[in-house]
Amino acid sequence: MSILIKNGRVVTAESDYIADVYIKGEKIHAIGKDLKIKARKVIDATGKLIIPGGIDPHVHLDMPFMGTFSSDDYENGTRAAMHGGTTMVIDFILQTQGKTLRNALNTWKKKSEGKAIGDYSYHMAVTDFNPKVAKEVVKMIRDEGITSFKTFMAYKGALMIDDGQMVQLMKVVKENGGLVTVHATNGDMIDSLIAKNKAKGNLTPLYHYLSQPEVTEAEASARFADMLDYTGCPGYIVHMTCEGALNAVRNATLRNQKVFVETCTQYLTLDASLYEREDGAKWVMSPPLREKKDQEALWSGINQGLVQVVGTDHCPFTWKQKQMGKDDFSKIPNGHPAIEHRMELLFSEGVNKGRISLNKFVEVSSTNAAKIFGIYPRKGIIAIGADADIVVFDPDKEHTLSVETHHMNADYSSYEGWELKGKTETVILRGKVGIEKGKCKLKKGYGQFIPRGKTSLTI
Ligand code: URP
Ligand code: ZN
Ligand code: ZN
Repeated sequence: MSILIKNGRVVTAESDYIADVYIKGEKIHAIGKDLKIKARKVIDATGKLIIPGGIDPHVHLDMPFMGTFSSDDYENGTRAAMHGGTTMVIDFILQTQGKTLRNALNTWKKKSEGKAIGDYSYHMAVTDFNPKVAKEVVKMIRDEGITSFKTFMAYKGALMIDDGQMVQLMKVVKENGGLVTVHATNGDMIDSLIAKNKAKGNLTPLYHYLSQPEVTEAEASARFADMLDYTGCPGYIVHMTCEGALNAVRNATLRNQKVFVETCTQYLTLDASLYEREDGAKWVMSPPLREKKDQEALWSGINQGLVQVVGTDHCPFTWKQKQMGKDDFSKIPNGHPAIEHRMELLFSEGVNKGRISLNKFVEVSSTNAAKIFGIYPRKGIIAIGADADIVVFDPDKEHTLSVETHHMNADYSSYEGWELKGKTETVILRGKVGIEKGKCKLKKGYGQFIPRGKTSLTI
C-alpha cells in the first residue's frame, strides 16, 4: 500500500513547512515539494496540518482498580484514542502485591494481544519490590522491551511502595538503562485526611479534593526528585497537577537535579469547582483537579520546559461504577475518560488561545514521549524512515464534545458541550488509514506491541 499526502503543512517539534509526504508500506519514504510519485491513495491536505501520530504515555485500559475495572478495553480504548489522533498509548501493567512481574505481564498480554487497534507498550508498575523482583526488572528491560517502571507513593496497602523499596528499585533500573515513573503524592498524609473527613461525616466528592491538598503532591514530588538525584536514576513524574509540585521540580532543577514531568489535559483545562456539583463524582481522580492558578502554572511550566509531556491518565468508569461511592467519596473509582480528546483540547485550548506554539503542541503530544520512553525516531516525528504514524489535522474545523459523539466507553463526557476549533481528520498508523471521515478503518489486532529502549531526551 502506498499513500501520498499532498500539499500539507508539516509540523514537527522543530520545523514547520509545506510539503508532500509519501508513505510506502509502514514507513515514510519521501518528503518534498510537488513529489512526482504515483501512489495507490492520494490525500489532499491543502490547508491542513500534517503532524506525528499522538503518543499518550498514561492510560489505564481494562485495569482492575478499587473493586472494578476501567471501562475501556484495548480495542475500544485504542480506537477512541485514534479518533482523536493518538496512534500509540503506553498502558500500565499492575503487579499484584505478593506476585511476580511475569504474572502481571502475562495477564496484560491477554488483554492486549489480538485486541488493540492502535499501537501500544507497557509500563510495569512495581507494587512489591524485593530481590526476586529486582531480577525480573532486569529481564523486563533486556528481554521484553519494557524499560519504564511505575511506582506509587500513595494507595497504601494496594499499590504503594515505601522509600526504601523505591531507592532499591531505582538502583536496579539505573544500572540496566531504564526509567522510574511515579504517582507522586504523600499516601500517609492523604490517608489521614481521608480518615479525618470520614470520621466527621464529610463524605461528598468535594472531600476527595480536600483530602489531597497541594502540599501532599509538592512534598512527594520533591522527595522523588531527591531520591532520583541520590541514585542517579532517570525519572518521570506522572500527572502533575499543581504549582506547588511544579515549584518543587523547579527548585530541584536549580540544584541541577533532573526529572521529567507529565501533566494531563484535565489539569490544564478543568478546575476543582466541579467537585461542588451534584455529579462531582465524574471528576474524582487522583490527584484531584486543582485551581485556576494551577492551570496557568502548568501551561507556563510547559513553555519553560519543566513539563515535557501532556498525557491523559485515561481511566474511565461509567456513571454506575462511579455510584459505588455515592455515600462515601473514598469508594468512588478514581479516574475519568480522556483518551480521545487530548490532541484536540491541547490544540484548541493551547495553540488557538496563544498559550503554546504549534511546535510545542507536537513536542508535548508526541515527540517528547517518544524520546523519553525510548521509541524515537521510530515514532514521534515526520521523517524519512520513521513509522508512518500521521495525523492530518484540520486547524479550522469547529466541533462540540459530547457523550453522544465520543467513542470512549463512558456514558458521560467530562467536557460535555465544550466547543473546540481544530479536529483530527485522517489518521494513518504504520502506513494504513486508521480514521477517515469519522470512521475507524482498522480491525482489532492491527495494533502492535512496541518494544522500547533507553531514554534519549536530555533536559
Ligand atoms: O485517578 C486516577 N488517576 N486513576 C488512575 C490511577 C492513577 O493514579 O493514575
Ligand atoms: Zn496516578
Ligand atoms: Zn494513572
